[in-house]
Amino acid sequence: MSDTPTLAINGGDPVRSKPWLDNFTTGDEEKHAVAQVLDTGYLSMFEGSFHPDPPFRFDGGPAVRRLEDLASDLLDGARVVAVNSATSGLYMAIGALGIGFGDEVIVSPYTMSACAVAPLIYGAIPVFADVEPGGSLSAASIRSRLTPRSRAILVVHQFGIPADMNGIMAIAAEHGLKVIEDCAQAWGAAHGGRPVGTIGDIGVFSFNVNKTIQAGEGGLCVTRDAELAYRLQLIRNHGEAVVGPAGVGDITNLLGHNTRMTEVTAAIAIEQLKKLPALNRHRLELVERLSAGLSRFDFLVPPDGCRGSGRATFYVYPLRYRAELLGGRPRSEFVAAVNAEGIRFYQGYVRPLYSQPLYQKRQAFKHGYPWTAPENRDSAPDYSPGCCPTAERLYDREMIINEHIRPPHGPDDMDDIIAAVAKVAKAMTSTSGGGTGA
Ligand SMILES: Cc1ncc(COP(=O)(O)O)c(C=O)c1O
Repeated sequence: MSDTPTLAINGGDPVRSKPWLDNFTTGDEEKHAVAQVLDTGYLSMFEGSFHPDPPFRFDGGPAVRRLEDLASDLLDGARVVAVNSATSGLYMAIGALGIGFGDEVIVSPYTMSACAVAPLIYGAIPVFADVEPGGSLSAASIRSRLTPRSRAILVVHQFGIPADMNGIMAIAAEHGLKVIEDCAQAWGAAHGGRPVGTIGDIGVFSFNVNKTIQAGEGGLCVTRDAELAYRLQLIRNHGEAVVGPAGVGDITNLLGHNTRMTEVTAAIAIEQLKKLPALNRHRLELVERLSAGLSRFDFLVPPDGCRGSGRATFYVYPLRYRAELLGGRPRSEFVAAVNAEGIRFYQGYVRPLYSQPLYQKRQAFKHGYPWTAPENRDSAPDYSPGCCPTAERLYDREMIINEHIRPPHGPDDMDDIIAAVAKVAKAMTSTSGGGTGA
């Protein structure tokens, strides 16, 4: 009789039948903080003008400003502008840097859609560069996409693993480019001893419900430049109405938005920021346990979270699958078998963004703007299949572990993941037939 256990997908007992826990990071501290705001009755204290009478202010209420101060302390004293989402923050960053028609912004295809949309909102053209095997933009690929119209690089610290900031900042310095760091997934990460988000011109963080710390929705823009911080504040709060009284000289891109954060959101975000170090420590312990257990499988490549002097904080856990070292079994078959064992693996992160209809049809606004705008006539970005081969390969070969690596899960939970992988690997390599029937 074979000692190969029957896979759950074939009717055997799963490695794990215990449910996974919800990953809520909020508790009594947030309840108390929200109650305090509710008691005041002032759920937001922004005013879309330089209002002379307190308590309403152009730069928001006490909780928003306290959050900005606290975040500034964590971010080496950089200036912080709290906003209603990281998506808004990315758009505002493009706006504040004065980017628009005739400009190109180099972006990643293997990330969240707003990163490539941000330039389009202001009439600029997103140019996709390829990523490194770790998932963040490759400096070499960025170099290959430079044109006389390149104005900025929007780099994402994908999965909470710091990007190659030495390489990227060197290109930016050589070519006079601005750098926006998307840190939505990288709370607490650092590169070269500096917090991510403070290395480029503007950093953007997210408090959405899935992030390491969360306030439901919300975000931060971060910059060391006082003028940029002011421009971000103007964009956040109906800039067009106040640039006159404020005597602002260059009013380009200062029209627009209400991207203000409420006092309630800020109160929650403050408590979450206080919890960040402990939450990150917990997450890193889980990741270390997982990497130690999974690195013995030659068909899996665990993430290298310590590129150079970087400190990764792992929003999710990316794992490359090498089918050729597991008898050529397709990733879909492996993932289905692991999932049946009670462990959730996802296939790939996102299909490279340039495959979306937005880029294939080049239709953001009426008449194909901004691609058809006269100022963008000389831009010829490549959105064809194969233009970023590493991103495409990652989408085809990578697996993502998401909610399992979050607190309050513990080492035993990680051992379940390792045990499920071991069981499936054994069945799939066994000569006595590890077919999944898939
Ligand atoms: C890399 C990245 N950038 C930006 C965002 C947008 O964040 P938000 O939901 O706060 O707008 C996300 C959220 O999923 C993200 O993962």
